[in-house]
Amino acid sequence: MAIARAPHAAGEAPRDAAPAAGLNSVHLTLEALEKRYGNLPPSVSALSLQLRQGELLGLLGPSGCGKTTTLRMISGLVPVTAGRILVAGRDVTALPPYRRDMGVVFQAYALFPHMTVAENVAFGLEMRKVSRTEAKERVMRALGMVRLEALADRKPRELSGGQQQRVALARALVIEPSILLLDEPLSNLDAKLRDEMRNEIRDIQQRLGITAVFVTHDQVEAMAICDRIGVMRAGRLEQIATPLEMYERPTTPFVADFVGRMNHLRGTRLEGGGVRVGEAVLATAGTSPAGEALLLMVRPHRIQMTPAATAQPEAAGRNVQPGTVRRVTFVGDALHYEVAMGAETMLVESSTVSGPQSFAVGDAVFLAWSPDDTLTFPAGTEA
Ligand SMILES: Nc1ncnc2c1ncn2[C@@H]1O[C@H](COP(=O)(O)OP(=O)(O)OP(=O)(O)O)[C@@H](O)[C@H]1O
Ligand SMILES: [Mg+2]
Repeated sequence: MAIARAPHAAGEAPRDAAPAAGLNSVHLTLEALEKRYGNLPPSVSALSLQLRQGELLGLLGPSGCGKTTTLRMISGLVPVTAGRILVAGRDVTALPPYRRDMGVVFQAYALFPHMTVAENVAFGLEMRKVSRTEAKERVMRALGMVRLEALADRKPRELSGGQQQRVALARALVIEPSILLLDEPLSNLDAKLRDEMRNEIRDIQQRLGITAVFVTHDQVEAMAICDRIGVMRAGRLEQIATPLEMYERPTTPFVADFVGRMNHLRGTRLEGGGVRVGEAVLATAGTSPAGEALLLMVRPHRIQMTPAATAQPEAAGRNVQPGTVRRVTFVGDALHYEVAMGAETMLVESSTVSGPQSFAVGDAVFLAWSPDDTLTFPAGTEA
């Protein structure tokens, strides 16, 4: 689907401060943003980040952590309590939403019930005084992007939830914003359409060099399309990093748990570097003072499992521990095992395509993993 940015019509927010340097220059800056409602604890506090032109940031976090509030402040729908919002260096904190050149897809799509699909999508263009002929063409192009050309004349009540969601997406894209704010834009779509639309959003966003913030509950979705991910917790940005960094080197146990499954082991650092966990002594990559109480975390798919009937696997610096399979769950492309290891229960994931090996409940096994795959946090830092 070939789309290009249309020339900007009179009355449309001028991109006067558009970054001449283009991609990689800082486009959106949030400086110590804070939002308080009355005397409640802040919904968002001390939120600072910088997005480069054309960057897609995924915003993840549990319900109520402040994701929607953050988008609402950026778009100007709620005033900030403190802090500043800069677009290409220009302070827009006090500007009304329609002067910010931002497209927004709301969590609740907020379509106008009395307008058709096409009229809903055209609304932002009318506000910007785009000519009728041009508006018509742009509306159909935007509906094409979300595969809804055929439904242009329907009313929102005649659409499914997923179709309404796509109208909301078209309405945000049609104004060809320099910044796109998406609040769980795919939450009502089935798995297949969701995958297609997320790739579509990524394509459009990259092709047009739009800077975007994408709120989602789905960490896999965020990993799949985002340049960086921010994990929020109780109004604060806990970590911001590339998907790989976030997954491999989470800075807190909260983030580690939020972006994929984790095994948790509690232990105490020994003289000489090992960590005592129950009866076992495990190796970790890091060091810490002897006697320190630690939380160790290991991703389930980083653990290799072998039958105890064959020889114990070569330790070669790895952690090797005996265990007994307690539960087997088939999830299509992987098998999930719960394995009793001393007093602990370990989750182990193995791909169903990686080998013929599978295990049954009651099997005696060895679990083996590398110290490098063992994340170490001081005890008490977990959620
Ligand atoms: N208008 C309001 N008045 C008072 N409190 C509010 C208001 N809007 C949001 N909040 C509170 O601010 C906090 C953050 O809400 P927000 O909608 O940003 O969460 P969220 O991360 O988007 O959650 P979800 O994933 O459920 O959509 C919540 O505790 C919420 O109750
Ligand atoms: Mg929300």
